[in-house]
Amino acid sequence: MASSQSLALAVLFSFLSCNASLASSDGFLQCLSAAIPEQLLYTQSSPSFTSVLVSSIQNPKFFTPSTVRPLVIITPTDASHVQATVVCGRQNDVRIRVRSGGHDYEGLSYRSKRPEVFAVVDLATLCSVSVDQKAATAWVDSGATIGELYYAISKASNLLAFPAGICPTTGVGGHFSGGGLGMLLRKYGAAIDNVLDATLVDAKGRLLDKQTMETDVFWAIRGGGGQSFGIVLSWKVKLVPVPPRVTMFSIPKSVNEGAINILTKWQEVAPALPEDLFIMAIIKKQVAKFQSMYLGTCDALLLLMGTRFPELGLNQTHCKEMTWIQSVPYIYLGNTATVEDILNRTTSMNSFSKATSDYVRQAIPKDTWVQIFTWLAKPEAGIMIMDPYGGKMSSFPESATPFPHRAGVLYNIQYMNFWSAATDGSARTKWLKDFYTFMAPYVSQNPREAYVNYRDLDLGENVVVGNVTSYQAGLVWGQKYYKGNFQRLAMAKGEVDPDDYFRNEQSIPPLVASK
Ligand SMILES: Cc1cc2nc3c(=O)[nH]c(=O)nc-3n(C[C@H](O)[C@H](O)[C@H](O)COP(=O)(O)OP(=O)(O)OC[C@H]3O[C@@H](n4cnc5c(N)ncnc54)[C@H](O)[C@@H]3O)c2cc1C
Ligand SMILES: *[C@@H]1O[C@H](CO)[C@@H](O)[C@H](O)[C@H]1NC(C)=O
Ligand SMILES: *[C@@H]1O[C@H](CO)[C@@H](O)[C@H](O)[C@H]1NC(C)=O
Ligand SMILES: *[C@@H]1O[C@H](CO)[C@@H](O)[C@H](O)[C@H]1NC(C)=O
Repeated sequence: MASSQSLALAVLFSFLSCNASLASSDGFLQCLSAAIPEQLLYTQSSPSFTSVLVSSIQNPKFFTPSTVRPLVIITPTDASHVQATVVCGRQNDVRIRVRSGGHDYEGLSYRSKRPEVFAVVDLATLCSVSVDQKAATAWVDSGATIGELYYAISKASNLLAFPAGICPTTGVGGHFSGGGLGMLLRKYGAAIDNVLDATLVDAKGRLLDKQTMETDVFWAIRGGGGQSFGIVLSWKVKLVPVPPRVTMFSIPKSVNEGAINILTKWQEVAPALPEDLFIMAIIKKQVAKFQSMYLGTCDALLLLMGTRFPELGLNQTHCKEMTWIQSVPYIYLGNTATVEDILNRTTSMNSFSKATSDYVRQAIPKDTWVQIFTWLAKPEAGIMIMDPYGGKMSSFPESATPFPHRAGVLYNIQYMNFWSAATDGSARTKWLKDFYTFMAPYVSQNPREAYVNYRDLDLGENVVVGNVTSYQAGLVWGQKYYKGNFQRLAMAKGEVDPDDYFRNEQSIPPLVASK
């Protein structure tokens, strides 16, 4: 009796140890408890585990019963808690994933695609922003949202801003790690082009800043994608000047109203306009919407558009003048939203989504646009969102940061499709895949470039060879995101985390120079 019981236990333990052992999980939790206040730790049995896990999930596709969930969520309130988590994780062979705003398109900040025991470090509580108005700089914690950053800047001055994304709930941590693109990109570049310093907890649990981290690591964290190099706790950014009023417009053009001709022209006009003017295009069904911000008055904008882009038919009635901070809720939440609404961190979990991206370096011919609109007319079709580059974006060499999509890019395309939780999304994901295949001849090639912040695991996933992810296998997706910078990223990874502790399905594999 006793012996068969212990045999059963032995079988149970050996089974568990195949999936990273129970012993190391226990050891990890004990180690955490010794270093971090209990109320900052949420194990799966904690009553609040689910609400903490779901708190910033943006894509509910990754919040289902079959989603692989963390063993524990750590919500640090101090850098030392993050350092202790890394040390405990290394000692007990438990990997960690870091979450800032939870907007990752593939949910990699809080779920694992394959069964594994892992912990989530959720930085949402580390979210302070301190603005130095005189110096026009700010320190922002990774757990802040870009809405919180914008808000804090506007409280200090209405003549300062920061060039980053348009969705206020996006987390600074993941967003800056991958680039950070918004309506100021033609004037001031991406968020990473305006990062001056950062603090990082590395794979040894050390707290580093620009002075103490390797030069290549400071280069790598500004665009090399989240997770790979450690946990960035905070960023020092350079704030940028904006006029007291900016002018916004949004003009929809249906195919019947000439959308195809206007888009064909937009491709070459929008990336060549003065840097103060940004006109993006969003296509849904048979309508292209041209959405714009101009760093100046309506009168000046009318003159400019009259000479450069008369086809759009801009007139006085389209212009909405407002402060830069008012443009943030206006563009993303609609014209009834208030500036305070950009502080609302609650994400609406209404729809499942899938996205991917492209870069266009040669204008797409008009007859191809006709075909594109046929794709978009299908009942299962999604949308296309296109941001023009040029201006400041082109002023940086491809190797200045890991983000390589610079001179020569006309615009990027984001393809997105949505469906409700209650419905089967397979027709919608198939549409996205088929449309992406159709677009191949018309977009950048060798490599077909993609933006890491629009993460798509269909571009390729890491393969573990020995103890680490394979550089060779990573080239498939790595060159799309980073072009020739992928190798330097892998070498930076090899310097700071040769054991590949900070790993996920698309983290940078370590390359260690052979002696
Ligand atoms: C609704 C929506 C709108 C968007 N709009 C834009 C836009 O306008 N412009 C644009 O450029 N992008 C946009 N994005 C994409 C967005 O920039 C990326 O999804 C970004 O990675 C999200 O950052 P996060 O902190 O919210 O995500 P998270 O899911 O928390 O993190 C993303 C990745 O970074 C890692 N990571 C997170 N925090 C850290 C950290 N502190 N240190 C190291 N690694 C970290 C995570 O492990 C994960 O791998 C949008 C996304 C959504 C869902
Ligand atoms: C402005 O353009 C719109 C079409 O986009 C048109 O309906 C409107 O009459 C125009 N207004 C003026 C004042 O020209
Ligand atoms: C915050 O946003 C959520 C999701 O969009 C919304 O349901 C909620 O009403 C908002 N809360 C406030 C206080 O505006
Ligand atoms: C994997 O790592 C362990 C311990 O760090 C080491 O002993 C082993 O040799 C490594 N295996 C390979 C294939 O590198």
